[in-house]
Amino acid sequence: MKIADLTNTAVNTVTTLKTFQRIVLAARPKGRVSPENFRMETLPQLISSDLAAGEVLVRNHYLSLDPYMRGRMSTAKSYSAPQELDHTMLGATAGVVVASRHAEFSVGDSVVGHLGWAEMGVTQGNLLRQVDAARLPLSVYLGVVGMPGVTAWYGVNRILQAQAGQTLVVSAASGAVGSVVGQLAKLIGCRVVGIAGGEKKCSYVVDQLGFDACVDYKANQTEAELLDCLRAAAPDGIDLLFENVGSSVFDASLACLNPYAKIALCGMIAGYNSASQPLKHANKLLTMRAMLQGFIVTEHMDVWPQALTELAALVASGQLKYHETIAQGLAAAPDAFIGLLSGQNLGKQLVKLS
Ligand SMILES: NC(=O)c1ccc[n+]([C@@H]2O[C@H](COP(=O)([O-])OP(=O)(O)OC[C@H]3O[C@@H](n4cnc5c(N)ncnc54)[C@H](OP(=O)(O)O)[C@@H]3O)[C@@H](O)[C@H]2O)c1
Repeated sequence: MKIADLTNTAVNTVTTLKTFQRIVLAARPKGRVSPENFRMETLPQLISSDLAAGEVLVRNHYLSLDPYMRGRMSTAKSYSAPQELDHTMLGATAGVVVASRHAEFSVGDSVVGHLGWAEMGVTQGNLLRQVDAARLPLSVYLGVVGMPGVTAWYGVNRILQAQAGQTLVVSAASGAVGSVVGQLAKLIGCRVVGIAGGEKKCSYVVDQLGFDACVDYKANQTEAELLDCLRAAAPDGIDLLFENVGSSVFDASLACLNPYAKIALCGMIAGYNSASQPLKHANKLLTMRAMLQGFIVTEHMDVWPQALTELAALVASGQLKYHETIAQGLAAAPDAFIGLLSGQNLGKQLVKLS
């Protein structure tokens, strides 16, 4: 059953909800995302008796908000098809099974899936991942032990192949991906420099996460200021760059590359709401003989089991720290998402649904 079909579902009682809410894409944004791009709908609660073989009904407790959603709201050609208008906004969720017609899932199981911006939903069981909510909090499986964590793990270990003694720079350093990148690189023995927006975020990554330094790009807005700060924070130059932002932030790092530097191009969030800014220092890719690899973590499912196992162990042992910014209730999701695209979040942005 597709989420979009839920309005046609007959009603039997399986939870205490008589109705549930979802948010659909009402209009595609032109430039910045606004609340008018979304519409909240109330639907009859979903039922157990209508589940087809292999399907599972889940009550969602957390919704993950992620930058990639901005791309899906647009029809621009990308690695994935656009989100359809008037359909539930796409998104990863963590919740509890309330009914199951899949042999591997029972009522009460904690699961992560892609049920979208909705309080409940039906999905094929083989699209769900069972998680151990007794070992770690459920929300963690959407962040540090979920897609963002695996993204960091893949970039650091497989693309950059970080080695002790190298200098690694990561932008959006206090965010869901960047915070894990820096900590994994520190565990390997790198010198780690973050780039983040504002004093609070920079203090967090240095004082709480153990980065060696952090450059505040909002306090150092001119090209010369940003370059001076980055050169001071990475005096031996940049061997490894984990790029999350693009624009002038990326450009400053390009200017500081060392010979044979490696770049994991993970995201370019500065351009998601608008046209990307041109790069002045792209010539460094040639003159420094750099290797740049763009990647999409969902194309590398083979590494997920190992990455998730290692990340969970590091979080459980306290070696990998995380922070969550949690909006309360589905109705808060649009503003929280708009805030994510302008740096309002610290760490992983979630919405608590129940
Ligand atoms: N390739 C993949 O498979 C993959 C997977 C997951 C994520 N990503 C990418 O990784 C990046 C980080 O994702 P995340 O989930 O960890 O998000 P996040 O860092 O938790 O949140 C986004 C952060 O980006 C920064 N930002 C937002 N707008 C910006 C702008 N206009 N200019 C500069 N910085 C801006 C803000 O931090 P500051 O306040 O510090 O600027 C904001 O807090 C994104 O580019 C995302 O698309 C890629």
